[in-house]
This record gives sequence, structure tokens and C-alpha cells, in this order.
Amino acid sequence: MHITRKERFNAAHRLYRKDYTDEKNLKVFGKCSNPNWHGHNYDLYVTVKGKVNPETGFVINLKQLSKIIKEFVIQKLDHKNINLEVDFMQGKLASTENIAIAIWEQLEEPVRSLHAELFSIKIYETENNFVEYFGEQYI
Ligand code: NI
Repeated sequence: MHITRKERFNAAHRLYRKDYTDEKNLKVFGKCSNPNWHGHNYDLYVTVKGKVNPETGFVINLKQLSKIIKEFVIQKLDHKNINLEVDFMQGKLASTENIAIAIWEQLEEPVRSLHAELFSIKIYETENNFVEYFGEQYI
């Protein structure tokens, strides 16, 4: 059984490489390379898998899942600059792909402590663009 909790965060970022000129950054990363930052309203879907506990009827307690997502992910990202302020994104390109991988790494153990397994991390950066990550085999 799969079960999903949705959370939201708003954050600023810039997609760029220091070894590129501003012109090349604009060519490769488009508007997301704006040197003066910009923000997105991200939608995050955390899906876990597990067996239905016959005692509770739950795969996982969604309140507890929401609590760990907030503690390990949302509090660190929401209203922050992803490039400058988010510990688990330091030294990484702030792409939605890399954010999804980093969120997986943040949540894998805490989800396990709730006796379930992480299945996927899905992030909508815009209405039309989203990524979905299923663990290291997809890096
Ligand atoms: Ni952007």
C-alpha cells in the first residue's frame, strides 16, 4: 500500500554555476539563473509504502509523517534561500532534481523509524514542471 502526504514550501534559489559566465548561465538555466534570486511555491508529495497494520488500519500515522516532514524538511526550506541557508543543499545546484534527492536523504531514516519505507519524493516547482524520485537507482 502507498500513502502520500502533501506539504508546501516557498523558497528562493538561483540555478547557476560559478565556472559559467552570467551569459552562459542564462543560456543553460534560463530565468532560474537570475543573479538576484527568485522564488517558487513548491508542492512536495512524500509517498511511503508499507503493510496495513491490522490493529490501526493505517500504513503509517499521517500526523507523525507530517511531523517528521516538517521537522527534517519544511522548517529548513520554507521562506529560505536554498542556495545560502539550507544545510542539506550546501554545495549542490539548487535544481528541483537535486532538492528531491536531498529530501529523500533527509527522510529515509525518519520514515523507517515509523515502520514504513519511503517510496517516492515528488516536487512540483511550477504547475507544469515536476520531478519524481524513487531512490538511488534513479540518480
Ligand atoms: Ni527557479
